[in-house]
Amino acid sequence: DWTSSSIVDDQVAAIRAEVGDRRVLCALSGGVDSAVAAALVQRAVGDQLTCVFVDHGLLRKGEAEQVKHDFVDVTGVDLVVAEESERFLAALEGISDPETKRKTIGREFIRSFEDAARGIAGDKGIDFLVQGTLYPDVVESGGGDGAATIKSHHNVGGLPEDLQFTLIEPLRTLFKDEVRAVGTELGLPDSMVWRQPFPGPGLAIRIIGEVTRERLDLLRDADAIAREELSAAGLDRQVWQMPVVLLAQVRSVGVQGDGRTYGYPIVLRPVTSEDAMTADWSRLPYELLERISTRITNECRQINRVVLDVTSKPPATIEWE
Ligand code: XMP
Repeated sequence: DWTSSSIVDDQVAAIRAEVGDRRVLCALSGGVDSAVAAALVQRAVGDQLTCVFVDHGLLRKGEAEQVKHDFVDVTGVDLVVAEESERFLAALEGISDPETKRKTIGREFIRSFEDAARGIAGDKGIDFLVQGTLYPDVVESGGGDGAATIKSHHNVGGLPEDLQFTLIEPLRTLFKDEVRAVGTELGLPDSMVWRQPFPGPGLAIRIIGEVTRERLDLLRDADAIAREELSAAGLDRQVWQMPVVLLAQVRSVGVQGDGRTYGYPIVLRPVTSEDAMTADWSRLPYELLERISTRITNECRQINRVVLDVTSKPPATIEWE
């Protein structure tokens, strides 16, 4: 029988038993999953936990500030911010293949944590790493019942072989709705618990083609406009998430004022879903789509076309890579 309070009690007891008086590091991504996992571990072992937020430079606008406001200020958790955008951009240079991107990011994530751990604990070291892996992540990375790998989610398939931590994954058997219930049970605010999912590899898997600083800036601007308008329309909870995807390998002809343009298309991918295992495309109001399209093409110079993805999952996945 599943209740969020029994999950909390069971996990807290299990984590205490495993960790004892040793130190734990948690990978905070800004998303619901890692926040709830961290809050659970904090409940279990208190200040033996240090959270590390790796700013990989693949975040959306305002994301780092939001984590501080909605999670760190609320829980009082011990936080270290690692500014690693140069490292990730350098590692991603020249890579267009989706799985290679994911594996590269997964590897750099772990290396960043290892560096942060050395910085925090010195020679004593840190034994455990918390990750907010959910059941669907396990299944889709080929971890359940011998299933085929669909995508290597960065927190499962992308781990290097010579990992120096023991993983603690307290959400590994849960679906998203259950994780939200656990987060509420732990006292996290709605703004944190109801945050729309955002993938660990961030905007890197929403740029089709090579990831560059310029492309990231462009996508970040377009994404911020789309999110702002979705929120203003009051549709945040109805829409599971709305990836905004930059097709950096495609250009099309447009016209603006008296001139010809030759710009990139942006894809809006709003979906409704229960657990991300399946999804349907959201029937957003035309007026909202129009506002987003007009603003993006007006405010983002290099984008001259906005297209809507009307594919369910399956056959498409939610993210494009
Ligand atoms: P897909 O694209 O597989 O996405 O239909 C399913 C859900 O998972 C999110 N997603 C990820 N989350 N690390 C994450 O933490 C990842 O590598 C990753 N890839 C996809 C995606 O945003 C959607 O909610």
